Amino acid sequence: MGKFKSITLEWKEDRLILIDQRKLPSVEKYVECQTHEDVYHAIRDMVIRGAPAIGASAAFGYLLGAKEVLASSKEVFFDHMDLVKRRLSESRPTAVNLFWALNRMEKTLNTLRELDRKRLVESLESEALAIAEEDIEINMTIGKNGATVVRDGDGILTHCNAGALATVDYGTALGVMRAAVEQGKKISVYADETRPYLQGARLTAWELMKSGIDVTLICDNMAGWVMKKGLVDLVLVGADRIAANGDTANKIGTYSVAILAQKHGIPFYIVAPLSTVDLLTESGDGIPIEERSHLEITKIGDYQIAPEGVKCFNPAFDITPSSLITGIITEKGIARAPYDVSLKKMFE
Ligand code: MRU
Repeated sequence: MGKFKSITLEWKEDRLILIDQRKLPSVEKYVECQTHEDVYHAIRDMVIRGAPAIGASAAFGYLLGAKEVLASSKEVFFDHMDLVKRRLSESRPTAVNLFWALNRMEKTLNTLRELDRKRLVESLESEALAIAEEDIEINMTIGKNGATVVRDGDGILTHCNAGALATVDYGTALGVMRAAVEQGKKISVYADETRPYLQGARLTAWELMKSGIDVTLICDNMAGWVMKKGLVDLVLVGADRIAANGDTANKIGTYSVAILAQKHGIPFYIVAPLSTVDLLTESGDGIPIEERSHLEITKIGDYQIAPEGVKCFNPAFDITPSSLITGIITEKGIARAPYDVSLKKMFE
């Protein structure tokens, strides 16, 4: 029986235990998933969020699905696994890591189809654990690759949370910051609060403070002024899906930050593992953008801040065109324009 534990998730005694990111930073509470349906709800309801973290959780959700029908006939087992994959795929639409992880789990299942069910499930468990363990290694490599663009004394602006909590551990954009600090560079981070879900205020500020990295929280609409004042040398953000031409979906507001960065001549980097690159989607136009409840805009917690019944538009992500992106930092190095060539090369 395998075991795994990181800040974001734990696999123990056939259960997936997730830190409840909805409750942070005020309360450290955990949610236990015993079925694939529990994992579906945990992803859909934002207990766990962030592209690589969603992918790893879905892999364990797939494994839990297999355990649910361990004793059934072969036919029932494989029909159930199709249903499990479909259900988990429906949890959130934008982060491609979800589909990447589910396809990887399904491939394991299909190549080992002839094994007896017990051994098949053991192999699925090894695969889910490998996805989790590899994610940390990949983030550390991304960190080293990305630290080359960070200079001692840099001010770095980030948007949303692309930290340990958004991955299995260490983080992507925040991983680059960690690696730079580990190399002895001094940095000052400006974290956008990231309306409406406040991942920057609640998660990025919390993570960086816990790691002893200098962080200043700003409201999203302050980013331009902070840049104008010369406090930002570099922008580092994560990604939920990168199309073949480099267009990148990330948390709503990223596009505005990229435009501001271009206006002020500040390098703007995307930091993401190759599992976030979707070569099958040609450009940003093909990336599905999740729309979320108007309540995220009209309320802060339980407090109503807008008139009851007001019309709202709440896209959870936006697309930053590749023309605004200085480079895409991955575990295979830094891709530069033309991205259709450089990204493809990383998969060779
Ligand atoms: O809605 P969320 O919180 O899942 O959105 C997360 C982001 O947009 C992150 O920036 C992205 O997943 C990169 S995480 C390394």
